Amino acid sequence: MGRKFWVGGNWKMNGVKKEIDGIINFLQAGPISPDVEVVVGVPALYLEYVKNKLPCSVAASAQNAYKVPKGAFTGEISPAMIQDIGVCWVILGHSERRNVFGECDELVAEKVAHALESGLCVVACIGEKLEEREAGQTEAVVFRQMEAIACKICDWTNVVVAYEPVWAIGTGKTATPQQAQDVHRKLREWLCTNVSECVAETTRIVYGGSVTAANCKELAQEEDIDGFLVGGASLKPEFIQIINAKAC
Ligand code: 13P
Repeated sequence: MGRKFWVGGNWKMNGVKKEIDGIINFLQAGPISPDVEVVVGVPALYLEYVKNKLPCSVAASAQNAYKVPKGAFTGEISPAMIQDIGVCWVILGHSERRNVFGECDELVAEKVAHALESGLCVVACIGEKLEEREAGQTEAVVFRQMEAIACKICDWTNVVVAYEPVWAIGTGKTATPQQAQDVHRKLREWLCTNVSECVAETTRIVYGGSVTAANCKELAQEEDIDGFLVGGASLKPEFIQIINAKAC
């Protein structure tokens, strides 16, 4: 069974209602290939608003969630709350959560485990910084991030792994298809060795970092690239072309 192509738009902290309505308009106009699973990561405040307006071919996702269902954690939201409004996805461990807000591997892994236990699907983000790549540590870093998650979960069915090299995020510097493919293949081999052959074969590993309409087709052709997590370009109509990168 093949891995269904998966494309996520991570809006980050962008979009007020007026802008969001514009994004929803182009998502409604599509066309969106039925061969692609599409998810948009929405600021928490607007999740319910967006969920009620999206075409049925596009799912909404939260961009973060804490590791427990409820309690004295001012400013946080929980997977139970996300589920309560009928949203099924959450993005966890994004490089901005790790590097701007100081989330460590352990916390990300705890959040992934709790979100899965709560019944959400998870986009688990990993990726190396520029200095780590330049020091030849890419593999060591992404394997360490995967290991932390693998220690805390048993079932990978509802996990999409997003490989997002930090140096490619929001910089206009995309990894070459070969650079991305090399890491994706190593991640799949890692899953095969450390989890199971079945999980390695079935888990979607998507690429993120300055994906645009101009570079998505070439990236989509790589064997181990099963989709994208798109930041800036997901706010623009070209997101439709990225969604359909593999389909046409
Ligand atoms: P950009 O596509 O803006 O580089 O962002 C990538 C990203 O962080 C998606 O999660």
